[in-house]
Amino acid sequence: MENLKPSEIVNELDKYIIGQDKAKRSVAVALRNRWRRQQVSEDLRDEIAPKNIILIGPTGVGKTEIARRLSIFTDSPFSKVEASKFTEVGYVGRDVESMVRDLVELTVNKLKGHEQEAVKDKARQLTEERMLDLLLPKSVEQQAPKSEDTREVQFELITAGSDEPSSSTREKLRTMLREGKLDNRYVDLDVADRSLPMVEIFSNVGMEEMGINFKDMLGGIFPKGTKRRKVKVPEAMEIMAQEEAQGLVDMDKVVREAIEKVEQTGIIFLDEIDKIAGKNGSHGPDVSREGVQRDLLPIVEGSTVSTKYGPVKTDHILFIASGAFHMVKPSDLIPELQGRFPIRVELSSLGRREFKRILTEPKNALLLQYMALLRTEGVEVVFDDDAVEEIARIAEEVNDRTENIGARRLHTIMECLLEDILFDAPDLIDKHQTIDTKYVQSKLKDIVDDEDLSRYIL
Ligand SMILES: Nc1ncnc2c1ncn2[C@@H]1O[C@H](COP(=O)(O)OP(=O)(O)OP(=O)(O)O)[C@@H](O)[C@H]1O
Ligand SMILES: [Mg+2]
Repeated sequence: MENLKPSEIVNELDKYIIGQDKAKRSVAVALRNRWRRQQVSEDLRDEIAPKNIILIGPTGVGKTEIARRLSIFTDSPFSKVEASKFTEVGYVGRDVESMVRDLVELTVNKLKGHEQEAVKDKARQLTEERMLDLLLPKSVEQQAPKSEDTREVQFELITAGSDEPSSSTREKLRTMLREGKLDNRYVDLDVADRSLPMVEIFSNVGMEEMGINFKDMLGGIFPKGTKRRKVKVPEAMEIMAQEEAQGLVDMDKVVREAIEKVEQTGIIFLDEIDKIAGKNGSHGPDVSREGVQRDLLPIVEGSTVSTKYGPVKTDHILFIASGAFHMVKPSDLIPELQGRFPIRVELSSLGRREFKRILTEPKNALLLQYMALLRTEGVEVVFDDDAVEEIARIAEEVNDRTENIGARRLHTIMECLLEDILFDAPDLIDKHQTIDTKYVQSKLKDIVDDEDLSRYIL
């Protein structure tokens, strides 16, 4: 997926997001530019800085949705964070550098997963051997019973062919294991005890800043947390396969690659950036807003953040910010920060035409969701075209008359519209329900006409 053409990226986004073509285009270009930079000769490559983007648009028009979809189909390390959850260094809360650490952590885990997948066969082989060792300890091979648990197995084996050399016993056991004949047996297994209580309490308090992995540290202080448990063979195989896979992965390589990937192609989506754009001189919780912006500057500009995996340079990480900018303007951000987001894209607010399409066209369209939900009860709902039109019209009207909450309005309206069917579905005698204009009006008209009521319900 790394080298999708801009038009292909837009096509992908089109499957889920209606309209907002300008925003889709600029994100697609920004993404493609990452790939282009990789192709440029090395001396110039370092000079090409990413052009960060701010997506501006009213609430509920698809800003976050664009980011979510991008994150699913791009291969680049991608993380989405809410700017509003950061606090200035020195205040209680998360400092902005943690977003880079999170991105590295995420990427390391992802790559580790891939690597483990790649060594899966090898791990399975090793696991099988280990399991056979467990089922058939050396002493048993010499036919001297030792532990309680193996006696049963061993007994069977002896009677099965006590004259044969032990290697063939092992092979027999292997066959039985593969055929699942041992699935009901228990073995003793030392499993890592993962329950380290209270660790989470510490984990955010500045420790990560120093690159200390608290859990690892505690793991070192306390005696190695293993517990002997009796587990069924299949579960034991599962656990051992995990351990073997972990042992086979070259973590140094994974970390090196992860950091390289983050530095070269990482993308951070900074949602709700308008929430840290405060007017100067305000009081209360606002005091740290400007501080957060200042803390952001070096990261966006390019600096080195220390993580527990080592230092990470942020020069080429692409930042896509988004915000409703309802109460504030991008110009309320501190000038230095404004300058670091040169591309501004406005998303348009949505009207009835878009609503109708949002209801029906995306792969995860709202109507499809409700139809699927009700189908589980054996109820088939059909929406008349006119009815969909009417729902879209009502959504637009309510948005105009009360607050414009964009496509989210469709959610409240649909809930209200289908309330009865959703409640009665299991008991409905008529399993075919057609939603026509009349039904829509009968359910929604009174509420829409009464402005006070619609403020509460829709
Ligand atoms: N253009 C669109 N096409 C399809 N679905 C949309 C569109 N815009 C919004 N939606 C739907 O509306 C909901 C809210 O959208 P989203 O989370 O993207 O809003 P937002 O622009 O980030 O708003 P906010 O500023 O409040 O965060 C989502 O469920 C999304 O699927
Ligand atoms: Mg959002």
